[in-house]
Amino acid sequence: MNILISLPLFLFVGSVKLEIEAPSKRLNALVILADDGGFEMGTYRNKICQTPNLDNLAKNSLIFNKAFTSVSSCSPSRAALLTGMPSHQNGIYGLHQGVHHFDSFQDVKSISKILKENGIRTGIIGKKHVGPDNVYPFDYSQTEENNSILQVGRNITHIKLLTREFLNTTKPFFLYVAFHDPHRCGHTNPEYGEFCQRFGNGEPGMGSIPDWQPIIYQPDELELPYYLPNTWETRLDVAAQYTTMSRLDQGVGLVIEELKASGHFDDTLVVFSSDNGIPFPAGRTNLYDSGAAEPLFVSSPLHEERKGQITNSLASLLDIVPTLLDWYGIKYDASIESNEVDSVLTGKSLLPLLEKEPSDKSKEIVFGSHNLHEITMYYPMRMARTQRYKLIHNLNYYSPFPIDQDLYLSPTFQDILNNTKTRRNTFWYKTLAEYYKRPEWELYDLKYDPEELNNIVKKNSSQEIFKVLKDRITEWQKATNDPWICSPHGVLENVGRFKDNPQCLGLDNVW
Ligand SMILES: *[C@@H]1O[C@H](CO)[C@@H](O)[C@H](O)[C@H]1NC(C)=O
Ligand SMILES: *[C@@H]1O[C@H](CO)[C@@H](O)[C@H](O)[C@H]1NC(C)=O
Ligand SMILES: *[C@@H]1O[C@H](CO)[C@@H](O)[C@H](O)[C@H]1NC(C)=O
Ligand SMILES: *[C@@H]1O[C@H](CO)[C@@H](O)[C@H](O)[C@H]1NC(C)=O
Ligand SMILES: *[C@@H]1O[C@H](CO)[C@@H](O)[C@H](O)[C@H]1NC(C)=O
Repeated sequence: MNILISLPLFLFVGSVKLEIEAPSKRLNALVILADDGGFEMGTYRNKICQTPNLDNLAKNSLIFNKAFTSVSSCSPSRAALLTGMPSHQNGIYGLHQGVHHFDSFQDVKSISKILKENGIRTGIIGKKHVGPDNVYPFDYSQTEENNSILQVGRNITHIKLLTREFLNTTKPFFLYVAFHDPHRCGHTNPEYGEFCQRFGNGEPGMGSIPDWQPIIYQPDELELPYYLPNTWETRLDVAAQYTTMSRLDQGVGLVIEELKASGHFDDTLVVFSSDNGIPFPAGRTNLYDSGAAEPLFVSSPLHEERKGQITNSLASLLDIVPTLLDWYGIKYDASIESNEVDSVLTGKSLLPLLEKEPSDKSKEIVFGSHNLHEITMYYPMRMARTQRYKLIHNLNYYSPFPIDQDLYLSPTFQDILNNTKTRRNTFWYKTLAEYYKRPEWELYDLKYDPEELNNIVKKNSSQEIFKVLKDRITEWQKATNDPWICSPHGVLENVGRFKDNPQCLGLDNVW
């Protein structure tokens, strides 16, 4: 294998082109985020999980069939969504809370900061999970920082009332409603069930959520995605997840009702998505499609052309900031440069897609950058995905793929673990050993292998596309000032005598 030695690094500073006419109308935006939500909804052809409110919103939106998070981990994904910069660029390399302790760089300009500076009233309701405060300032803030996360993230009646309070304003606004549903809670609040599906359901000790009609699902009626083991334990787990997904759905319905009641449905851009993959094996913390693909729909009162249509264009959650700036008609100030940050945005506005589908999608590409989830889970990966191919670079490939506390305790993972230990059938699409042990490079031809099981990186016929995608990842790493750019076979030298001529110096560590 070739090692990159003395690769010159051209640290180019680009700027996003956002030249739009100043909007004549007062414009607002509402971003609604699910927590660990996946495709458990009618809009994405799930026939069992009932989500009439999300489906209605989708009918009024352009529905993205190929949208991806740049990182499948909560805080890094939220930070990327709010800054337009991937994890390695904005500085939140892993989870924000407790011992994990990650924060974005001080100089990063988040969307809430930019909008606030432009006289737009900003609000957050629900899960924040990013910091520091001065990078993510909101005029109105009801989050886990000073509330119970169950109240601001799962109690849909409470969320409705907070939304009402925020929307009682005459200023243009940006509201970010980040539900905690359908996140697991077996790890933190097992008394409410694996997905907090019993919280507020009116049973003794559970309290009640007046606006919620709980829906109970039968484990045997579910359609499991290909990457989950077809076992009774998993089915019970997914049934609980669906109940919570339906609560999220009803919550979204209430928030949209509040928006309508405030008279702003016809001047507000509404974006719905989720932060990362579902909390199941091969989901969250993975850059396989099972962990990185996200639901995404964008509803614009100014774009009638494609309501209810589906786009197959590739989108990234890194596109949300450019989309919002485009919507408000605000230019991004790319001049902020420091030792830590190059203020380049590599995403694009999604608004043109609301008008028409591009005729040529063959050159589309999205990128991913994962570093950690929990502090102990150092597993940096870089990823590029085109319409047809996916390349993943596992930088720490000698290490077993790490498992988080929450997933570890889940019935689905415990089932896989137990069955593996006792040499029984796991009914899973991989062995646990295959899941843990990953090669440095993984290349998949998604046309023939959408489940990403057949790594073609060593095939002769793959060498051309391998090189193309590898180079694209390196270019993106350069553009976004990635400290991992030389890993794992080189050391980046970029200060002292290398200041003007940064280099990857080879380690000779391939054996
Ligand atoms: C939480 O903090 C925000 C701003 O710091 C404040 O406006 C809000 O009232 C607080 N909420 C609670 C429940 O203390
Ligand atoms: C809206 O705000 C005004 C003034 O701050 C207040 O009097 C009114 O009760 C509020 N309305 C709602 C529905 O909260
Ligand atoms: C949910 O919020 C409503 C309104 O604040 C409250 O009446 C209700 O008790 C809360 N439910 C739970 C389960 O905390
Ligand atoms: C796995 O095995 C442990 C220990 O034997 C047991 O307590 C647990 O219930 C099992 N879990 C599942 C999901 O089978
Ligand atoms: C693959 O490529 C190598 C080097 O170019 C060559 O030696 C080898 O014969 C090729 N193998 C096949 C099966 O084409």
